[in-house]
Amino acid sequence: MRNALNVLVDSVENPDHQRRFENEMDSFFALYRRFLSDKASGTAVDWEKIKSPSPSEVVQYLTLSENVEKETASLAKLAVLKLNGGLGTSMGCVGPKSVIEVRDGNTFLDLSVRQIEHLNRRYDTDVPLLLMNSFNTDADTAKIIKKYSGHRIRVRTFNQSRFPRIYKDSLLPVPESFDDDLETWYPPGHGDLFESLVSSGELDALLAQGREILFVSNGDNLGATVDTKILNHMIETGAEYIMELTDKTRADVKGGTLINYEGEVRLLEIAQVPKEHVEEFKSIKKFKYFNTNNLWINLKAVKRLVESNAIESEIIPNAKTITKGNSDINVMQLETAVGAAIRHFDGAHGVNVPRSRFLPVKTCSDLLLVKSDLFYLEHGALKLDPTRDGFANPLIKLGSHFKKVNDFQKRLPHMPKILELDHLTITGNVKVGRDVTLKGTVIIVVNENESIDIPNGSVLENVVVTGNLRI
Ligand code: UTP
Repeated sequence: MRNALNVLVDSVENPDHQRRFENEMDSFFALYRRFLSDKASGTAVDWEKIKSPSPSEVVQYLTLSENVEKETASLAKLAVLKLNGGLGTSMGCVGPKSVIEVRDGNTFLDLSVRQIEHLNRRYDTDVPLLLMNSFNTDADTAKIIKKYSGHRIRVRTFNQSRFPRIYKDSLLPVPESFDDDLETWYPPGHGDLFESLVSSGELDALLAQGREILFVSNGDNLGATVDTKILNHMIETGAEYIMELTDKTRADVKGGTLINYEGEVRLLEIAQVPKEHVEEFKSIKKFKYFNTNNLWINLKAVKRLVESNAIESEIIPNAKTITKGNSDINVMQLETAVGAAIRHFDGAHGVNVPRSRFLPVKTCSDLLLVKSDLFYLEHGALKLDPTRDGFANPLIKLGSHFKKVNDFQKRLPHMPKILELDHLTITGNVKVGRDVTLKGTVIIVVNENESIDIPNGSVLENVVVTGNLRI
């Protein structure tokens, strides 16, 4: 492997790229070696050693107090970062998910910017917004953020690493040169944040501005607003890392959870759970909370840990099939997750936050929810309509015709009103008109070779609409 990586390094023609690429290949090599040694020794968790976290390891958000006098001073220490390196592949996006339009012509990215602009105006402060892009997302993102250059917000971007995919059989790198197809490279998961923050110089720049705490969240989570109670709690307790967790429901049984393992807090992901314990892992009684990926991280601690190579997060091997030349090949990419690093930080713990801080958009069914009248926009943040307070969100299942964002937008050009909806299933060739209201349980099932247009102004309440029936 080392030789193959040296060949890649030697293929760099532009000296400006040489240094960074060499560092990336060194980091990749360290990850790869760890992957091989983990494979040889087996790193499965010892199930008997897992304990539920203690009350001091998962603090209840409701017990945190406001400290209005300290807010401005605390915000002077804060920077906000959105993870923006992933492609929204599960929603059929060709670019970053953050450039999907969510409300009134605003993308996820626009709304994140508006949240921070509002914060800066409200507290007369200057919290910067950072975006961790990847080689896959940088160009599209640059187009969107150009328009914010004259605004009251500092938007900084940096790129995470670009690592070589490896052949599944030989475990050797797929790219043959630095300039090989983009398909042969990958961004190594959001766990790459720590190293990329340091290697890009952004971490030192932030520390030089007195920014000590970084609030990190997924680019698609519009519920992840800056919360001054959590920020103050972090400063008061001196914790180096806080993970926001929320109550697990039956819909989130696969989410990572916080555990106490040999006296330290750790993130436990479903992939690490021995097969015979998966059902237990999914139980909402034993593992009550799951990770929202809203994280508050002390930047001095990041510098210390990265400089001493102390962050060794569990490696997640991800198998894929890609096309190289004219053939399909089976490859693997070695990834890490930002939440897995929690165990390396002093005083790290969880805060159990309300569900409203976690509004992920993983599928077009989720997109329908956040675009609908169930939520309203407040300074870039999504707020639940008060009439739905205390109720679970409607269960929405859109079939494969709606899987890709483009198809979703064509079939649902106008969002239906769903304030009184409990459950919606749509499968098949369906197009929904303007001003449609859905209530109770609505099921629209269209057989192959048939189609349904739901007419403008329809009100559907507790109905099953099938391919043979026109309304
Ligand atoms: P995930 O990969 O967990 O979920 O990324 P996702 O965005 O739903 O991805 P798909 O649709 O399954 O492909 C969570 C967040 O982390 C970022 C993503 O952009 C997203 O905001 N991310 C992911 C990175 O910044 N870098 C990566 O290498 C991977």
